[in-house]
Amino acid sequence: MRQGGAKAQFESKDGRLVTLRALKRGDLDGLVRFANAVSREKAVNRELGIVALDGRITRADERLFLNRILREAKKGNEVSLAAVVDGEIVGHADVWRRTPRDVHHTGVFGIIIREGYRDVGIGERLMSAVLHESAKRGIWLVELTVFATNARAVHLYEKLGFRRVGVVPEKVVRGDRHFDEVVMYADLRKR
Ligand SMILES: CC(C)(COP(=O)(O)OP(=O)(O)OC[C@H]1O[C@@H](n2cnc3c(N)ncnc32)[C@H](O)[C@@H]1OP(=O)(O)O)[C@@H](O)C(=O)NCCC(=O)NCCS
Repeated sequence: MRQGGAKAQFESKDGRLVTLRALKRGDLDGLVRFANAVSREKAVNRELGIVALDGRITRADERLFLNRILREAKKGNEVSLAAVVDGEIVGHADVWRRTPRDVHHTGVFGIIIREGYRDVGIGERLMSAVLHESAKRGIWLVELTVFATNARAVHLYEKLGFRRVGVVPEKVVRGDRHFDEVVMYADLRKR
C-alpha cells in the first residue's frame, strides 16, 4: 500500500469526515498520542479488550511499531490502515501475514478504535477496507482472537463474515479478572 495515500473517505454516523489511509513516517507522534489514549483507557477500564499497550508508550516504542509496519508492508507481509479525523489518528487495523510458505495465505487481524470514536461505523469501514486489501494481496485466510465479553467486537466480526472456532478459557488474566478468548477466522474467498 502506498505510504500515506488516501484509500477512502466517508462520513461517520455522527457526521465526521473520516479518511482511511496507510501509515507514513510522519505519523510517529500521532501514533504515540493514539497508543497512550488507549493505554490510559485500559488503566481505568478493566474490561477493555486490548492485550497490548500497558503503561506509558514512548516514541521509541512506537518507532519500533511504525518501522515494522512500514518495512513489512513494503515486503507485502503487512496490510495496515489508519482512520484519521481532523488530522488525528483515531483508529488502526491490520492484517499481519505469516511468512512460512505453507501458511503464506494466512494472516492475523487486529483493530483498535479510540474512545470517543466508537459505534459510529468507523470500525466496520476500516475493517472492511483492510480485509479487501488483504484478499487482494493473497492473504485470504484471516484469523483473530477476541475477549468473549467483547460483544461489540464479536458482533462486528460476525457481521463481516468471521466464524467462531472455539474458546480458550482464561487466556487473559488481568488482576483478579480472568477473560476467555474466542478464536475466529474468515475465508475471504467466500465473502
Ligand atoms: C470493537 C471496535 C473495533 C468496533 O469498532 P466501532 O467503530 O466501534 O464499530 P462500528 O461502529 O463500526 O460497529 C459497531 C457495531 O457493534 C454493535 N454493538 C455496539 N455495542 C454492542 C454490544 N454491546 N453488543 C453487540 N453489538 C454491539 C453496533 O450496533 C454496531 O453494529 P451495527 O452496525 O450492525 O448496528 C471498537 O469499538 C474498539 O476498538 N473497541 C475497543 C478496543 C477493542 O475492543 N478492539 C477489538 C479487540 S479484538
